[in-house]
Amino acid sequence: MRLLVTGAAGFIGTNFVRDALGRDDVERLVALDLLTYAGNYANLADLEGDPRFHFVRLDVAAREPVATLVRAERVDVVVHFAAESHVDRSIADERPFLHTNVEGTLALLAAVRELPGFRCFLHVSTDEVYGSVAEGRAREDWPTRPSSPYAASKAAADGFVQAAAATYGVPAAITRCSNNYGPWQFPEKLIPLFVTNALDGLPLPLYGDGMNVRDWIHVDDHVAALWHVLSLAEASGRVYNVSAENEVPNRVVTDRILGALARPATLVRYVADRPGHDRRYALDAGRLRATGWRPRRSFADGLAETIAWYEEHRDWWSAVKSGAYRDYYERMYGSRLRTSRDAPSGAER
Ligand code: NAD
Ligand code: TYD
Repeated sequence: MRLLVTGAAGFIGTNFVRDALGRDDVERLVALDLLTYAGNYANLADLEGDPRFHFVRLDVAAREPVATLVRAERVDVVVHFAAESHVDRSIADERPFLHTNVEGTLALLAAVRELPGFRCFLHVSTDEVYGSVAEGRAREDWPTRPSSPYAASKAAADGFVQAAAATYGVPAAITRCSNNYGPWQFPEKLIPLFVTNALDGLPLPLYGDGMNVRDWIHVDDHVAALWHVLSLAEASGRVYNVSAENEVPNRVVTDRILGALARPATLVRYVADRPGHDRRYALDAGRLRATGWRPRRSFADGLAETIAWYEEHRDWWSAVKSGAYRDYYERMYGSRLRTSRDAPSGAER
């Protein structure tokens, strides 16, 4: 494979690239990333010694340089992670989400459309496109019903990938994965934010009543699922849900973090809810399971290992949580924490 991995310096991209370079079937790996607030070159710097690895700092939406790069590198597989990925930031300003998630995907699709020998555009999408799941588990044939600007931009990108497959015959597959956790996740997302705050004795801002449910999967299981989808012959824009079918309310995740770190429950602060907050995500991963894929990590072990990773990598997250992050934190949480409560409104914890 001559791979182009976009968003390579982000959370899942980093885990994917590090895994990819351990494989014999990867002849070349071009890692593209703009290094926004969420991208961290330090995650990949030690890989520069591998002659197959080549890092390029580039905006995925820059059409001509992207097209030139894929031609020059004779890329035959694209794994497309590059995105603005945080729901709260999309509520504050949707424009970067339209640029990267939609324009960026369109630029890549145009770049590979007539590329000789091109084999697969693997578009890494999310379960959030289905919206809140009141009952049952979302299947691939469910309509998309995005609630957040982030989810809307991912659903739009999914549509453009399917259109490119149908209209121009671009070989493509789409994965829709549930919430990931693991090493190198930016501490704006629930698990790394709460683990690092707890380590520093800072408040854990739980939204609403803390009973929203997310379907958690370890990033290693997601990465393995992506290789598995690449190994399937099907590349006509087919969608595969990726999930360990592991639903956990946020309050339970929080209690487990506090328990693992032996920190007091008094750190938990109930803050004003996120607008449009999806109550529950739950995916049916039956289609992918039927092809032989299985998640391997239990949530108990995976979470314990992840917490230990953040305990051991304080240098990494201290650097990430400095500078512009502090302004972000104040904007996002400052006034909410000042009006927070130690129990959800109308309830005792
Ligand atoms: P992340 O925010 O950690 O990383 C995103 C990366 O994209 C960063 O390295 C950033 O620098 C880069 N990027 C942003 N804008 C860019 C641009 N214009 N050009 C080039 N690079 C740019 O995100 P993540 O959690 O690693 O998610 C990766 C992908 O997986 C996203 O497409 C996301 O929608 C999808 N996904 C994530 C999850 C999850 O739980 N994290 C679940 C399902 C799907
Ligand atoms: P998040 O990690 O932002 O992922 P997503 O919204 O994409 O699922 O949030 C996971 C859950 O945790 C979600 O229900 C919102 C909640 N949450 C909090 O309660 N407090 C927080 O500070 C954050 C970041 C999330």
